[in-house]
Amino acid sequence: MAKISSVLNSNFFSSTLATVSYSTPAKVSPEDPEERFITLAEVSWHDNASDCWIIIYDKVYDVTDFLDEHPGGSDILLECAGRDASVAFRGSGHSSQAMRALDRFLIGELPLHERIFRKPGGYHLSDIPA
Ligand code: HEM
Repeated sequence: MAKISSVLNSNFFSSTLATVSYSTPAKVSPEDPEERFITLAEVSWHDNASDCWIIIYDKVYDVTDFLDEHPGGSDILLECAGRDASVAFRGSGHSSQAMRALDRFLIGELPLHERIFRKPGGYHLSDIPA
């Protein structure tokens, strides 16, 4: 116990955390969805029917107002609430019209270090939007 408290009381945690840094630059215009970075952790808080965010191809969408409009139903969107829906979206065989409809709900994108599909030098699917 004495050992644990001495570690907790030391500067161990704060000094370790202070050294963590990411290469994603800060963007300056958070009002513009194309310019706003939203982390996975933040998305995870928006996980219910009255506040539903999902991630598709590293972009973050607020689909709260779309739940009742979605041709595939609201339940299927809620299953992905607060998390990545790329594979589910892709697997449902959406049309190019559905791809275009995504833009209506765009609120931001993941920081570079949290991306899967749209990162420099990363795995790239030719049919996903830039
Ligand atoms: C903002 C995100 C989404 C948009 C804008 C969207 C849009 C649409 C649209 C327009 C359709 C009609 C068919 C088509 O044009 O492809 C559709 C159907 C469908 N969507 Fe989505 N979708 C979204 C997310 C999702 C997700 C995350 C899933 C799976 C978890 C999903 C599952 C389905 C299914 C299963 C259908 C087929 C419904 C049927 O034919 O009975 N969608 N969606």
